[in-house]
Amino acid sequence: MKPHDAGWSAVREPHGGATVRISVDTAAAEDAAPIAALQTRVADDLTRRYGPGHWSAPVTESSVARAIATSRVIVARDGEVVAGTLRLVTKKPWAIDPAYFVHVRRPLYLLSMAVDPSRQRNGIGRMLLSVAAVVARAWPADAIRLDAYDSEAGAGPFYSKCGYREVGRVSYRAVPLVYYEMLLS
Ligand SMILES: CC(C)(COP(=O)(O)OP(=O)(O)OC[C@H]1O[C@@H](n2cnc3c(N)ncnc32)[C@H](O)[C@@H]1OP(=O)(O)O)[C@@H](O)C(=O)NCCC(=O)NCCS
Repeated sequence: MKPHDAGWSAVREPHGGATVRISVDTAAAEDAAPIAALQTRVADDLTRRYGPGHWSAPVTESSVARAIATSRVIVARDGEVVAGTLRLVTKKPWAIDPAYFVHVRRPLYLLSMAVDPSRQRNGIGRMLLSVAAVVARAWPADAIRLDAYDSEAGAGPFYSKCGYREVGRVSYRAVPLVYYEMLLS
């Protein structure tokens, strides 16, 4: 048995496809390699679709291992196969300017949101975000904050559809970004 927490699960029925049972839990050390591989597939897919950009860098197993050891990495699985992931951290990323967000005492920051390109648009991203909200409330935290690229390659409309509110648009080191937040209390 892997040392995952109890986790959450849901059944999805992709359009015209077979039923898929997705479970979501906290990543363990042995998930670092498959998560890095998934994030690199996502980077390659974005580069193929939108050209080279800040989204193009491959992700290393050691950086994911560090993330698992120092923050909360959440993973969606189809059986044993990693299908999606996100990360919650307490430390504010450099690109986030808190002045744009509703002031709260205990914000969390959502990073590294990714669903395997072959499994996108099947509800896995939405499911990961709802688990993130459950995890954040239990933390306890008052809000989840994030930034998305303000470009075609960015996933801003996805966050809007999943209940996040746009709170501002900025340029950080010449990269246009959109800020989103979800208040939890
Ligand atoms: C963005 C991403 C995480 C979404 O995951 P997903 O599993 O495909 O999303 P879901 O199927 O749960 O979509 C939920 C809703 O958002 C919509 N949506 C998903 N991705 C979208 C996008 N890029 N633009 C606009 N709408 C999007 C879906 O159509 C769905 O809408 P509906 O409820 O009206 O049907 C995934 O596409 C991904 O990994 N993209 C590449 C990496 C990336 O952009 N990461 C975010 C960095 S900020």
